[in-house]
Amino acid sequence: MKKRIAVYPGSFDPVTNGHVDIIERACKNFDSVIVGVLINRHKKPVFSPDERAEMIRKSLKHLPNVTVDCFSGLLVDFMRRNNITVAIRGLRAVSDLEYEFQLAHTNRLLYPEMETVFLMPNVNYVYLSSTTVREVASHGAELTGCVPPCVADALREKFKNEPA
Ligand code: PNS
Repeated sequence: MKKRIAVYPGSFDPVTNGHVDIIERACKNFDSVIVGVLINRHKKPVFSPDERAEMIRKSLKHLPNVTVDCFSGLLVDFMRRNNITVAIRGLRAVSDLEYEFQLAHTNRLLYPEMETVFLMPNVNYVYLSSTTVREVASHGAELTGCVPPCVADALREKFKNEPA
């Protein structure tokens, strides 16, 4: 039987427990999940692609059917190269919908064979985003229980010399 493989693309700057929750759900429903970390040349991320990928790997050690890879350019090209036709995206609230619609329909236009599958995280994470985590961490505070321990350590280290 054909293996069901999905990519979960994102910026992951940094990965949060909300992302981990989505990946755990994806792993239950697909044989293999590839987390695709975007190398975005136009944005200046806090963490390099390698740092982001390494933190994701550390946070997913309990999941045997996940791999982490970095990609640049279009998601559909990364998917074609890897022979993947399913992309997973998390939907937290209605506010996510407009952007996700744009993304999914643009991707469908570029790669009609692909499907975007939306998964909902645990309700505890609906307010959580990497942007919020970065903002709070940049002021020297921590969002306990919102990021994996290795991410909390990395954020502390990254912002230790910033004025609160
Ligand atoms: O975590 P994010 O930032 O919401 O993830 C967005 C991501 C990486 C899925 C999206 O920006 C993406 O796929 N970027 C690669 C370029 C691309 O394929 N864009 C889609 C057509 S506009």
